[in-house]
Amino acid sequence: MSEQVLSVAGLTAFYGTSQVLFGVDFEVKPGQCMALLGRNGAGKSTTMKAIAGVIPSGAGSVKLEGREIRGEKSYKIARAGLAFVPEDRQVFPEHTVEDNLLLAAKSGGQGNDWTLARIYEAFPLLAPLKTRLGRQLSGGEQQMLVIGRALMGNPRLLLLDEPSEGLAPVIVQQIAARIKELRRSGTTILLAEQNMHFCLHIATHVAVIDRGRIVYTDTTDGLRANEDIKTRYLSV
Ligand SMILES: Nc1ncnc2c1ncn2[C@@H]1O[C@H](COP(=O)(O)OP(=O)(O)OP(=O)(O)O)[C@@H](O)[C@H]1O
Ligand SMILES: [Mg+2]
Repeated sequence: MSEQVLSVAGLTAFYGTSQVLFGVDFEVKPGQCMALLGRNGAGKSTTMKAIAGVIPSGAGSVKLEGREIRGEKSYKIARAGLAFVPEDRQVFPEHTVEDNLLLAAKSGGQGNDWTLARIYEAFPLLAPLKTRLGRQLSGGEQQMLVIGRALMGNPRLLLLDEPSEGLAPVIVQQIAARIKELRRSGTTILLAEQNMHFCLHIATHVAVIDRGRIVYTDTTDGLRANEDIKTRYLSV
């Protein structure tokens, strides 16, 4: 068994002929919550999508628990234990909250599987909304639902792309608290964010991306103390 849950090395990606990732390198260890931080257009979503196989990558390596997954189809990568929650959330609009969760259920074979009951415990806001349709949920409720749905697949690694995006500050705080609890209970997470303050509260480690390259990796405390990196790459 590999020491890394995820290791990304030399990952490149293109949209048409335009290169967006220029050799992205970072690693996520078991139990870490790694924040992938960077400005608008830095390449966070592209990195996430290339890892999850929803867009093709050019070159490099992406290993999930030591096994090469780069170049595999996204459903196979998901089946291998990588759950990706994209920026646009993609709740099933005509299904109830409960069906959204059940459609994603998959045994992790570890004996500590996520169940509906555990999801409602982790996201108490969802419990009274069981029979509500996906399209009737607020943005914050949808975000909680898609995180819950990702967990129902018992992933080895959870990828969250900008979970705070477009949500009111009070909802952002609730989402942050839930993600922090997931991290505390041992879920390994890779979180893409523009909002550094959101990450500083929940991440254990950070990787800063700028123009398609990782320019800094450290613990969250290390970044907090590094004014130079914050002003150079994170516009704060
Ligand atoms: N479908 C696409 N076609 C062409 N170029 C794209 C496409 N999606 C993204 N890009 C470009 O790739 C670069 C990286 O975009 P990406 O979405 O990965 O950034 P990001 O860090 O997630 O930004 P944001 O914080 O705005 O979500 C940007 O220059 C963007 O304009
Ligand atoms: Mg993005």
